[in-house]
Amino acid sequence: MADINLDNQGKKEIADGLNIYLANLHVLYTKLHNYHWNIKGKNFFQLHSKLEELYDHTAEEIDEVAERILQLGHKPDATMKTYLEKAQLKEAESKNYNGEEVINSLLEDFKKLIQELRKGIELSGKYNDEVTTDMAIGTLAHLEKNVWMLESYLG
Ligand SMILES: [Fe+2]
Repeated sequence: MADINLDNQGKKEIADGLNIYLANLHVLYTKLHNYHWNIKGKNFFQLHSKLEELYDHTAEEIDEVAERILQLGHKPDATMKTYLEKAQLKEAESKNYNGEEVINSLLEDFKKLIQELRKGIELSGKYNDEVTTDMAIGTLAHLEKNVWMLESYLG
């Protein structure tokens, strides 16, 4: 294992937390596609493309989180089965959704992720893992901005 001067126990705990986050991101990624495909109504074009922007961003995040787990000397989970077992976010069925339903569902998920990221930042801070902390803060900033935008959309 590469020696990056971090405590082994810390690396293990942080990697375990990142695997849960990775599982959440996979559920979110699938759900964003679901909404991108199934959204109906007057705001279709606007929300359809916003959802695409969000899943593209989620795809990049998935890769970043998995590669951070590897840098910490652990294995990122890589099966859908494990993601579904570990994820805290819930999948959504394939049916028609209106804009408000999509926005409310995403707000709930983003707020859950924000809550989990704050716990993660506390953990990576405890073990002086600045790189994971920095990554989590970047994600947190993106989520907080999106919560603001989604709430503004609701008026
Ligand atoms: Fe598309």
